[in-house]
Amino acid sequence: MGKGWTKSDWRAKPRVQMPDYPDPAALRAVETTLSKMPPLVFAGEARRLKADLAKVAEGRAFLLQGGDCAESFSEFSADNIRDTFKVILQMAVVLTWGAKLPVIKVGRMAGQFAKPRSAPTEMIDGVEYPSYRGDIINGFEPTMAARQPDPSRMLQAYTQAAASLNLLRAFSTGGYADIHRVQSWIAGFTEEDEAERYREIANRIADAMDFMTAAGVTSTTAHSLATVDFYTSHEALLLEYEEALCRIDSTSGLPVAGSGHMIWIGDRTRQPDGAHVEFCRGVQNPIGLKCGPSTTTEDLKVLMAKLNPENEPGRLTLIARFGAGKVGDNLPRLIRTVQEEGANVVWTCDPMHGNTIKAASGYKTRPFDSVLREVREFFAIHKAEGTIPGGVHFEMTGKDVTECTGGVRAVSDEDLSDRYHTACDPRLNASQSLELAFLVAEELQDRRQTQKAAAL
Ligand code: PEP
Ligand code: CO
Repeated sequence: MGKGWTKSDWRAKPRVQMPDYPDPAALRAVETTLSKMPPLVFAGEARRLKADLAKVAEGRAFLLQGGDCAESFSEFSADNIRDTFKVILQMAVVLTWGAKLPVIKVGRMAGQFAKPRSAPTEMIDGVEYPSYRGDIINGFEPTMAARQPDPSRMLQAYTQAAASLNLLRAFSTGGYADIHRVQSWIAGFTEEDEAERYREIANRIADAMDFMTAAGVTSTTAHSLATVDFYTSHEALLLEYEEALCRIDSTSGLPVAGSGHMIWIGDRTRQPDGAHVEFCRGVQNPIGLKCGPSTTTEDLKVLMAKLNPENEPGRLTLIARFGAGKVGDNLPRLIRTVQEEGANVVWTCDPMHGNTIKAASGYKTRPFDSVLREVREFFAIHKAEGTIPGGVHFEMTGKDVTECTGGVRAVSDEDLSDRYHTACDPRLNASQSLELAFLVAEELQDRRQTQKAAAL
């Protein structure tokens, strides 16, 4: 990796899902400006995340990745960042309790702006428009002008990402993330009647905290209770942006994506000889690779060899997104390919992208039960194969939106129109996200008990 690779090599490869900018001079000017900006993350942080993910691959930590499907310029606010961060922290505490392992927290934040689409155009009120591709590329409003790709949007995305990261870093270390506060938010959720079944877990977490306090382990004596490590990630779709933020790490002399700690390759852009794989293979960051029903075992072998030729632990995370009911047809064959190749990977489950349906009301939604079912299938198959279910990957927000149906505070098909704010795919709301964390914690607890029994 690194050797014989340059950050522009992707330009010679076939590209999909990327815009054709109408004004090449304007594009070049933006690229020049961006390439002079400071990177958003530092190589040492990406290395630390890689080391954390290496622990996940060995079953010594659990990965929680989550955030917006698409960050947007209009929904950008300190409150939104805080609320999503807050729910991720609550989920992490619940999962830590279930797994009895450190939870590695990675936001789909501070860079998750570009979206692959199923068609290049869409019909709105009888008019055909170019598809919306995320705020970093074009505008959501259905007008020909807004839908034109505009390179200056990359500068706004960079600025928004920088401001988001600044706030996330402040929240992570400035006292907001103190585990005692997080635990009290969780207790608040389970006070509701509908959350009865989660109360026991919340009480046990509270007991564990009381015990630690009594034993003298407090936020003052133990720094790790008062702060968190929080990482950022996004799909590396818009390669002009990624290239412009690619930097040489002064410690190793190797290239690093400066746009986020972890970047991933989407289900639609993982052609082994395509531009996206070419860019990602050359940077040192942890790389995610979405694996769907169309991922062949042959492609997976080639992709693992290209993206992680040195079989470095923590480098490659396979994000399984098959859809409820389809995990059994696909995950075992891919797990076996990984085993046959002796590849070091993290397996994580994205139960969102294979479970999108159109509700009768016309809204795109995801039923909570399908999301949960896919997670359970993922755990069951890893159990059967004797491999490690390393983590979960969700599209979620800290806001009380009505985009996915179901959950204890049930959102119905008819409710979807109330607060449907996503710029792209439907997200779990704060309550659904935390509820899912409780249910995943139960799976993790089962897994621990099975392991304990096997060790006896
Ligand atoms: C996404 O994560 O938002 C996405 C588009 O996923 P996928 O590439 O798996 O469809
Ligand atoms: Co999505």
